[in-house]
Amino acid sequence: MARAWLLLLCACHAQGQDDDFEWFRCDACSASFFKINKTLAQRLLGRTSVPAYEFLEIVDDVCETMFTKNEFGVKQHEGKKYLFGPGVTDHIPGQGFGQMGMGDYDKRLASYCKMFVEELGEEKLQRLWADQQLNHSQLCVEECLSSASGTGAQSRAGRKPPRPKPKPSPPPPPPKTRPPKEKTPKDSAESSTKTAPKPSKPSGTPDPKSGELDKVLSLLPRLKASELQRLGSAVIEELTSRASSPRERSEL
Ligand SMILES: *[C@@H]1O[C@H](CO)[C@@H](O)[C@H](O)[C@H]1NC(C)=O
Ligand SMILES: *[C@@H]1O[C@H](CO)[C@@H](O)[C@H](O)[C@H]1NC(C)=O
Repeated sequence: MARAWLLLLCACHAQGQDDDFEWFRCDACSASFFKINKTLAQRLLGRTSVPAYEFLEIVDDVCETMFTKNEFGVKQHEGKKYLFGPGVTDHIPGQGFGQMGMGDYDKRLASYCKMFVEELGEEKLQRLWADQQLNHSQLCVEECLSSASGTGAQSRAGRKPPRPKPKPSPPPPPPKTRPPKEKTPKDSAESSTKTAPKPSKPSGTPDPKSGELDKVLSLLPRLKASELQRLGSAVIEELTSRASSPRERSEL
């Protein structure tokens, strides 16, 4: 669940004004694990056996607070942008003009950091740290095979086994002919985890219950870009407020 929100947020950033980044994905990965390794060393002072909660607190803190515009900046060269900062390989050595603080790449870095930690798995991260094998160059080999910047498909499928977390259950089927009050046990179990219904593709058989949604969807082509943007923000806000567990909240 949390991961889905995260990817959603990343995707929104990736579609924003920073699409002309090169290597952002690779650089974000390197910066993340470099910072995590360094900060763990500073805070744990040689202790390798620490409780998981303490370890994770540090890792979360790194992702949330340490990718500041004071330390990370953007280099521009021939219409492309490149991240620079601690742990980031210079892809265009000696070229480009560097600048701190333009755009919201810091927020994007923070999201990527959380994503990479989650993809690797927190347990594995802690094991690597304990074995002094937390090497950002090694951990990001695959991310750095390409100059891709977004969160898109790129080698995602079948790369690493997904975390052993319960997947969010698919949205329940739209109530069709069933009387509204009747609830199967399955329904009541799922009713506590409210899942936003997927916007259904306009199909030939209109469902009376989804009439409202269809109205909204049919409005979309007529909205101005700025209105669509407002709508998008409102949807994200609504989704965010529904992510109700404290853990999910902290990850948002
Ligand atoms: C990780 O941190 C340790 C302790 O500061 C350092 O010795 C090691 O070189 C770091 N590893 C990498 C790959 O930077
Ligand atoms: C990290 O991994 C890279 C690539 O495998 C290697 O060249 C480098 O020496 C390693 N660094 C440390 C500190 O172990």
